[in-house]
Amino acid sequence: MCPALYYGGMNRKKTFLILILLILLTVAGVFFWRRHATKKETNPYSAQTAVAQKQPNTTATPTGFDKKQLSLDDPTSLWVIVNKQRALPAGYAPPDLITPAVALRLSGGTEEMKMRKEAGGALKDMFAAAKADGFNLLLASGYRSEASQKALHAMYVSQKGAQAADLDSARGGYSEHQTGLAVDVGRADHKCEVEACFATTPEGQWVAKNAYKYGFVVRYKDGSQAITGYIYEPWHLRYVGKDLAKAMQDGGQALEEFFDLPAAPDYK
Ligand code: DAL
Ligand code: ZN
Repeated sequence: MCPALYYGGMNRKKTFLILILLILLTVAGVFFWRRHATKKETNPYSAQTAVAQKQPNTTATPTGFDKKQLSLDDPTSLWVIVNKQRALPAGYAPPDLITPAVALRLSGGTEEMKMRKEAGGALKDMFAAAKADGFNLLLASGYRSEASQKALHAMYVSQKGAQAADLDSARGGYSEHQTGLAVDVGRADHKCEVEACFATTPEGQWVAKNAYKYGFVVRYKDGSQAITGYIYEPWHLRYVGKDLAKAMQDGGQALEEFFDLPAAPDYK
């Protein structure tokens, strides 16, 4: 073989190998860069708890919605956020409790059958709409004072232990029920009352689909335990007003996510 050709062949071979090496290095570089970037984008909520949950939904807020319209801290605000990290002021009681004119689990006048006026009116409208669609709902539990919440939580602790109780019952001073803006809704026949199976009943499905039209959100959603600290409670609605409920309806976010507040899986 002519030495010139031989060396020329060697050079072509070398160039070809270097080219392959460069391509491999570029592909590997892109692969590692993508892995690193994905890790950085992981939602911070998921790192704050050992509880295995699906990733929180981070769907963007509808454009133009002003998240600063109302206070998240004032206990009388329709947007107040109460969770395991955000207690109500000691002994707080809402200013305008009424007994809504709806089907009640307990006799009228009972503390637990009350709600704040605006929320109670919205509940009445919602129940009327449900009735028109053929579903009979009842108010299972509305306002609970700090003392009643404390007693209820203590009862659950004695029944199932503190750890389990904390997953579906707030401690005194930490319950949304104390704001008069939360309500547990149920079926008139009490089937699946305050139980996960409420979600599978036609009434539960109607509530999940329509509550936002009346200003309510399902506060403790399926898969949001790492954020709210509570199991799925398809019966527990929180009145926030129609604008916010509508803005939140499509995103599937918990209030904490929507308002960029820290997750509250546990007490301080
Ligand atoms: N079940 C809810 C978390 C409460 O007790 O307020
Ligand atoms: Zn509740």
